[in-house]
Amino acid sequence: MTRRLTVNVDHVATLRQARLSNEPDPVSIALRAETAGADGITVHLREDRRHIQDRDLILLRKTIKTVLNLEMAPTKEMLGIALEVKPDMVTLVPEKRRELTTEGGLDVRTHSETLKRFISTLRDGGIMVNLFIDPDAYMIKQSYKLGSDGVELHTGRYAEARDRKQREHELKKIYDSAVLSRKLGLKTHAGHGLDYHNIKEVAEIREIEEFAIGFSIIARSVYTGIEQAVREMRALIR
Ligand code: PXP
Repeated sequence: MTRRLTVNVDHVATLRQARLSNEPDPVSIALRAETAGADGITVHLREDRRHIQDRDLILLRKTIKTVLNLEMAPTKEMLGIALEVKPDMVTLVPEKRRELTTEGGLDVRTHSETLKRFISTLRDGGIMVNLFIDPDAYMIKQSYKLGSDGVELHTGRYAEARDRKQREHELKKIYDSAVLSRKLGLKTHAGHGLDYHNIKEVAEIREIEEFAIGFSIIARSVYTGIEQAVREMRALIR
């Protein structure tokens, strides 16, 4: 199986928004990432529009040739946008206004009825739906019951582990979750906090079909250009 890499271009927009300017343009960088071999483009349209703007999403839909994955919170506003723009895939994520980045997986326990409705409305609109969840057996079984197409396993705790023991513990959770997810027939993706070093061990988990990586690729692209940064990450996950 060839594993896929989707490149999250949010932080190109972060830089642009720092000066409320026209550049750098995440749409243009996304097209260059595709040329370098990215299998898809991910953007997170946040409620506060701190980085990606509605215009970016619309232009990406019109221009990219691979797969467009929209990360969004399960809100009425976002549902309307998704049904209009029609990304290939929506990844539902929790969202807090003050967080620097998405801090944890979706709470699929408390919000199950709302999530179920969201998932079926999006799927009826022809959009594939993944849930961004912590690597945990209950969360995976619940995602399956709610009718999602797949899951994206949150790798943030693994990425932030301070020592080998903790990292191995987190890696085992990701491995067990990926095995269970595939057993249930769910699409199995992973992401958050992955970089050119910590990707190596998670990339050995063959059950993971796709990685969503943003910050480390955009950071490296400042030195190397986006094409080289994408090619290097792609080589590591394949
Ligand atoms: N997957 C999800 C659901 C995310 O929210 C993010 C961050 O926007 C990523 C992947 C990418 O994380 P990072 O930028 O740390 O690579």
